[in-house]
Amino acid sequence: MNTTEKQMQETIPILDFGSQYVQLIARRVREAGVHAVLVRPDITANELRQLSPIGLILSGGPASVYEAESPKCDPAIFDIGVPILGICYGMQISAQVLGGAVRAGHAGEYGAARLRVCTDGAAGKMADDLFAGIPDETGVWMSHADQVQDLGPDFVALASTATCPMAALRHRTRAVFGVQFHPEVTHTPHGGKLLENFLYRVCKASGSWKMGNFVEIAVEKIRRQVGKGRVICGLSGGVDSAVAAALLHRAIGGQLACIFVDNGLLRKNERHNVESTFRDHFRIDLRTVDASDLFLDALAGVTDPQEKRKVIGRLFIDVFKREAKGIADARFLAQGTLYPDVIESGQGYARTAANIKLHHNVGGLPAELGFELVEPLRDLFKDEVRRLGEVLGLPEHLVWRHPFPGPGLAVRCIGEITRERLELLRHADEIFLEEIVSAGLYRSTSQTFAALLPVSSVAVMGDGRGYKPVIALRSVDSTDFMTADWSRIPYDVLARVSNRIVNEVRQVSRVVYDITSKPPGTIEWE
Ligand code: XMP
Repeated sequence: MNTTEKQMQETIPILDFGSQYVQLIARRVREAGVHAVLVRPDITANELRQLSPIGLILSGGPASVYEAESPKCDPAIFDIGVPILGICYGMQISAQVLGGAVRAGHAGEYGAARLRVCTDGAAGKMADDLFAGIPDETGVWMSHADQVQDLGPDFVALASTATCPMAALRHRTRAVFGVQFHPEVTHTPHGGKLLENFLYRVCKASGSWKMGNFVEIAVEKIRRQVGKGRVICGLSGGVDSAVAAALLHRAIGGQLACIFVDNGLLRKNERHNVESTFRDHFRIDLRTVDASDLFLDALAGVTDPQEKRKVIGRLFIDVFKREAKGIADARFLAQGTLYPDVIESGQGYARTAANIKLHHNVGGLPAELGFELVEPLRDLFKDEVRRLGEVLGLPEHLVWRHPFPGPGLAVRCIGEITRERLELLRHADEIFLEEIVSAGLYRSTSQTFAALLPVSSVAVMGDGRGYKPVIALRSVDSTDFMTADWSRIPYDVLARVSNRIVNEVRQVSRVVYDITSKPPGTIEWE
């Protein structure tokens, strides 16, 4: 292992006690330049040692440490000898293991609170490491009913709020810290600084988790895995497969062949954009399969959304398989699997919280295709993939692209799918996106698109009266796409979109804006 590789191994394991913010903690640590991984709360001290941690973070969680069924940690983790930061439940369990006591507080504390940091005497000195550069009085985000009520002989309180006298702790002899509030959320304005203090002042991190370093290591790893073998990568037009392909190309150049299936359900110019980026700019061996007739013929008369998904999924595998067979001695298949997929599939660690995967993944390939998988992004979160895409020189429109479902426009063309209806939808969708981009709203919205409804409404045009289809506009803000809120797009932007659609898409005379959050409404209409 070379020096960079060793530094890249500088890891902070985060024990997940079921906090809704646990992925956010990992992202914050990584944003601060240190690699973080999520691990089970009951991981043993020995298993942890194998990860060569430079420190540990114990997350929050919904349980109470004094309940018999609550998740416990191996007490020996406190003897590994690396610094530990407990957050909320993580602080409470640290206190409980090391001689303190936790009980329900007189009052719960949810939302914003004022934190006072000790500045005098021994406690003030002990607060220096964690609170360096943070005002003595500052806002924090709280979410707890229990609190540490007895410090035991070894803990010192470093900070308090009006209802929580022990809102931050430090052990007298071990590098064990605890905070009752959530430094990982943006509502704790100096939370990022506190995490940095823990990483750099306490754990002495070098801050080597940078995308430039990542590329170097990942390229090396890919070369080691595939040797002189050929790798196939399916491109979808989405961010993950695009970044995976660009990274593989950097690593193995001509050994990579990409397959892009045009299923006739793509957005306006999508095929052209993919081809011009990958074939013309990167000079990747890209094979586009025009299978639009095959897909659209098979979808004729199909109106049930799940049936549409099944038809598309099945055909995609057939088409991909046939094309892949034509690539001589390909042994590897690259996929843009991300870290949250690894966690959710249970390969990363077993979650304590109930875990409902809402994705209906169409466009995936079955294991029995017989390839060995190459998954160069399986360590990364989505925002890191985007940063990586930028480092690799992918164009901005690809790196910041909103997600697009595997079944494409099929699930946005509500009801029957015909070439004419798809064309109409594509045109309206293009206008909506153009206006969102020119109003500077593309980056602040998470997923924006048009859907074509299977109803007609009355239209008065000139002196005539007609019945024409309705376009629904949908735009949502979301971080994980499991929940979402409709985007508050300014009325004048909506007015421009509506005007343009009814004027430029002759067949449409009515436009509506979807103001449903998820839940209960899903992001897609089908
Ligand atoms: P919903 O509509 O369930 O969507 O709120 C959540 C996210 O998943 C995408 N989506 C799909 N992605 N195949 C996919 O690959 C599908 O069948 C599918 N259906 C929905 C959706 O666009 C959103 O990003």
